[in-house]
Amino acid sequence: GDSGESSTVNCSYETKQYPALFWYVQYLGEGPQLLLRAQRDNKKGSNKGFEATYNTETTSFHLEKALVQESDSAVYYCALSDTVTETAGGAENKL
Ligand SMILES: *[C@@H]1O[C@H](CO)[C@@H](O)[C@H](O)[C@H]1NC(C)=O
Repeated sequence: GDSGESSTVNCSYETKQYPALFWYVQYLGEGPQLLLRAQRDNKKGSNKGFEATYNTETTSFHLEKALVQESDSAVYYCALSDTVTETAGGAENKL
């Protein structure tokens, strides 16, 4: 939309596990890149004005940004890890 609006991209999940949750962003002509992540319930991930809170009660991880710019036009992917241990080794390097 126009710049200056706030925006939310909803993400809900169904799992009995407590996986790490991620938002990836993919700008036109580029590969997906990690935007933010949260490891546990009630943890908030934030980056570049975006934020998302890990909520196991509502099983949501909605991505929010207060002031959306034209340059935020991209594809946003919500993702979760199957197991926390699976990402533990490599995640830091990717940041
Ligand atoms: C997004 O989530 C919010 C809060 O859970 C809800 O009120 C809203 O209806 C959802 N929007 C869509 C498009 O699902």
